[in-house]
Amino acid sequence: MINVALPKGRLGEKIYDVFEKAGYECPSIKETSRKLLFENAEKGVRYFWVKPSDVAIYVERGAADIGVCGKDILEEYSPAVYELCDLKTGNCRMAVAAKKGFYDDGNRTLKVATKFVNATKRYYAEKSREIDIIRLNGSIEVAPTLGLADVIVDIVETGTTLKENNLEVIETVFPISARLIANKASFKFKTQEIENLVEKVTALLD
Ligand code: PRP
Repeated sequence: MINVALPKGRLGEKIYDVFEKAGYECPSIKETSRKLLFENAEKGVRYFWVKPSDVAIYVERGAADIGVCGKDILEEYSPAVYELCDLKTGNCRMAVAAKKGFYDDGNRTLKVATKFVNATKRYYAEKSREIDIIRLNGSIEVAPTLGLADVIVDIVETGTTLKENNLEVIETVFPISARLIANKASFKFKTQEIENLVEKVTALLD
């Protein structure tokens, strides 16, 4: 049996469809919207829906053998898991954004608002840029307008949120897409099952 943690939401549903096509279907998953755990014993697969940011926790601790997780989470939390493959879905980027026309005076400490504190600190440390980091939990895009921060580091997909808040991308920090991750012990003990799954899933992506 392979336990799979899927991120609740559109991305997870899209990935489930790929798993289904790859022969790991579990029809009951489409029957109800409140249940979180679904099993197809015959196919040897069990799926569960969790918050996208929790997938790596389930996988790291072995509650799930594999899971689907954004590169943003892997960069931010560095969970002790194996990254098996790029699912080439959920493409977006981590970016630095600021008010239109923002001029970065390199002599001043840069005030940066973000949810992704670790990834942001690493990014500016590599550039030897001194920053004052402001950890926020959401609505990051209002911070520059209100003078809370000079710039933000956040996920940009279509760019609509930035545009509607009069911000623009000034740098890309890293590209993001969904990754298939595995628990290290599971990968050791279920190598064949997991590798078969990866092979079938990636064949459908290519
Ligand atoms: C992300 C991100 C931006 C938005 C960008 O938020 O934090 O706010 O998407 O998308 P866009 O470029 O297509 O406008 P998300 O919807 O994931 O919600 P969250 O802020 O609550 O995490």
